[in-house]
Amino acid sequence: PVIRREDYRKPDWLMPDVHLEFRLDPARTQVAGRLEVTRNGAHNRPLRLNGDGLTPLAVLIDGEPQADAWRMDGPDLLVDLPGDAHVVETRVEISPEANSQLMGLYASGGNLCTQCEPEGFRRMVFFIDRPDVLSRYTVRMEADKARFPVLLSNGDRTASGDLDGGRHFAEWTDPFPKPSYLFALVAADLAANVDSFTTKSGRPVKLAIWVVEKDLPKTEHAMAALKASMAWDEKVYGREYDLGEFNIVAVADFNFGAMENKSLNIFNSRYILADPETATDIDYDGVSGVVAHEYFHNWSGNRVTCRDWFQLSLKEGFTVFRDQSFTADQGSAAVKRIEDVRLLRAAQFPEDAGPLAHPIRPESYMEVSNFYTATVYNKGAEIIRMLHTMLGPQKFRAGCDLYFARHDGTAATCEDFVVAMEDASGVDLTRFRLWYAQAGTPRIRAALSHEPAGARALLTLEQTVPPTPGQPEKQPMPVPLRIALFGERSGRAFEEERLVVLDGERCEILFEGIAERPVLSINRGFSAPVIIDAARSAADLAFLSAHDDDPFARYEAMQQLMVDTLVGAVSTGQADHGPVIEAVRTTLTDPALDSAFIGETMLLPSEAFIGDQMAVVDPVAIHRAREALRRDLGGQLEGEWRDAYERSRANRFELSPQAKGARRLRTIALGFIMASGAEDAAGIALRQFHEADNMTDRQGAFGVLANSLAPERDVAIAAFYDRFRDNGLVLDKWFSTQAFSIRPDTLDRVEELSRHPDFTLANPNRLRSLVGAMSGNQLVFHEAGGRGYRFLTDMLLEVDGLNPQTAAKLVPPLGRWRRFDEGRAALMKAELQRMLDTPGLSKDVFEQVSKSLA
Ligand code: ARG
Ligand code: ZN
Repeated sequence: PVIRREDYRKPDWLMPDVHLEFRLDPARTQVAGRLEVTRNGAHNRPLRLNGDGLTPLAVLIDGEPQADAWRMDGPDLLVDLPGDAHVVETRVEISPEANSQLMGLYASGGNLCTQCEPEGFRRMVFFIDRPDVLSRYTVRMEADKARFPVLLSNGDRTASGDLDGGRHFAEWTDPFPKPSYLFALVAADLAANVDSFTTKSGRPVKLAIWVVEKDLPKTEHAMAALKASMAWDEKVYGREYDLGEFNIVAVADFNFGAMENKSLNIFNSRYILADPETATDIDYDGVSGVVAHEYFHNWSGNRVTCRDWFQLSLKEGFTVFRDQSFTADQGSAAVKRIEDVRLLRAAQFPEDAGPLAHPIRPESYMEVSNFYTATVYNKGAEIIRMLHTMLGPQKFRAGCDLYFARHDGTAATCEDFVVAMEDASGVDLTRFRLWYAQAGTPRIRAALSHEPAGARALLTLEQTVPPTPGQPEKQPMPVPLRIALFGERSGRAFEEERLVVLDGERCEILFEGIAERPVLSINRGFSAPVIIDAARSAADLAFLSAHDDDPFARYEAMQQLMVDTLVGAVSTGQADHGPVIEAVRTTLTDPALDSAFIGETMLLPSEAFIGDQMAVVDPVAIHRAREALRRDLGGQLEGEWRDAYERSRANRFELSPQAKGARRLRTIALGFIMASGAEDAAGIALRQFHEADNMTDRQGAFGVLANSLAPERDVAIAAFYDRFRDNGLVLDKWFSTQAFSIRPDTLDRVEELSRHPDFTLANPNRLRSLVGAMSGNQLVFHEAGGRGYRFLTDMLLEVDGLNPQTAAKLVPPLGRWRRFDEGRAALMKAELQRMLDTPGLSKDVFEQVSKSLA
């Protein structure tokens, strides 16, 4: 059954007040729901209470047990109600420890917790489980006191005490009406890092981060990020926290990053726990980014929520934009932008170019869990960023203020957001709405001509939006492009940067006073999520990589130069590495640049990204071309790399942006020293591995060694395991680093690791660390013969029986079969077909597979 956006109907019944009771036990938990329902409008339809795998043990209407007034309709409970307002009570029993889907109420590490978004609530209680039905909740929890000393839910704790038989209870009341997907409950044996924050209007807020006691020292970074987020949202958006308490709970088994439940965020522990010994700098940034993201949802998501799941980007795109802006303000904005664009290109562009392409506001779905995508989140954030760019910060802020004021306490739509932006700014966004409706990454052709006699330059821009499934014809969209011209000889910009909005298929822009030959810098800061085809020469790109005054554009010019060189090498078999080597030398030795930026710029484009530029992906040729460039860069700049390596050595660990940048550059330099083939390289790497006083350096050296055929690699694998065998999050790195290796025996090793006693399909982090990593390793996954495809499919089918949502996320790499040669395409399709032919396939996987084959 397909759910369509256009079929939205307002709810038949509302449910202003609900009371829930949980008698908690890992094996058998009893849940009672007491719903005060009211008829919404004139109709005589029954009350539909959603369920998922629930059997009603009792149904009461206005206190009277009922035998005939209800019936099951598939998983749902239908109740006939005579009047316009009733109290409906139901009771069920569920088993949290048997819940391997990790949706609804489940057990993790001996504790009990919930995940409800999007449709997990209905796995616990019969309920109107849709985001546009908002209720005030009171919750009573009972559990064994020794086993579950901590009982948490949303809002404020209003009562607690001891019961007979070693049990205790707590009652929680949340004054803010909310949809079911924001409900949460935790019963656990955990300890808290407690702190406080006073809002700008003077409200004291108790902050607590709950983890297993031994992990308490690893919560400082998350706590600092939480306080910084609270202050930032007040300063930048004028948004204050609204309750007396804010709790975060970390759990080891979690389907994704974290969840913004009202005042009780639940996190994948990888986005909470960090200390120098076990977390890399990237992990630290992940913690602060996700803590901020979930905190910001309190306004963009909770106070104003979504009318239906087609509006998901209303909260997710906006909140990702907010967390990106926060991180940019905390550290290096340039580096943050580069990282975000790299992620967009790695995860979202392929989605937009493949069989699962969908607009940021999809039109239909079979299983909504499949739409928590890079498109909805990351492209969604780019759409909000374009509004920010086009309206400017003041009008954008006025639009946000109006949006929050108008829709506070309600379930809104993407359209509501755009209307608020229009009303506050006076800017007509009619055509901009196409960004919500059309899938596919626009391509912009840019051609610059120069007329020296008239000192004029003419820039011609042309836009096409490619067809995507279900959308053969596209309209041009407004594309804001930040543009500058630089004098080739002077190296200076001709005028202030311009913001050009290409609002049709084609436009021409005239620049005057252009006496010398201009070099085009376009889509600076990545002002629009598009592909630019500007056909600039290697010389122009090298020039921009050295002279552009927009750091993103500078990075971009280097990337483009590398991509052009590598794509040329793959298609012609000939490579001229000279321009890249010289450009890298210039950047690497530029004393004005900071290490973090240099590190970003030196990273070769990924094999997958190079493949994305080609009509038919040839994984082996791409790998060879890229390794050849890496060897040349390593060999010809060996002295420079060794200098960079030495100058970025630190005396002691610090988390400052400078120190992080130095660590980044150091490991990148190590990779190039290794690529140079220098005899002492593996020894240098192993020394860094052993002597590191932090995980960034250790993991960096481990990653370099994992690619190597030198015996030092085996030493590192064994030492890493021995040191961290009791730390699940670090063991994930042990698995993923080996699965990302480019060694020829990687698939053998991955298969061996899948039989390792520490491997399990039940933990999504561990699954991704092996199977997800392997399928992201283009060379290895696409090994001719299809062994990578078979391995992925075998694993996926096994996971599907446990956790369909997580299984479905493994499908997209196989869905890219159209991009490969006939032999590989046939093998990939055969595996997709094997899934489709498997009896009992989940709806989650079915949707992804059937769309991938269509
Ligand atoms: N709302 C959560 C967040 O973005 C993520 C929920 C993801 N749910 C899912 N079924 N994938 O912070
Ligand atoms: Zn989110």
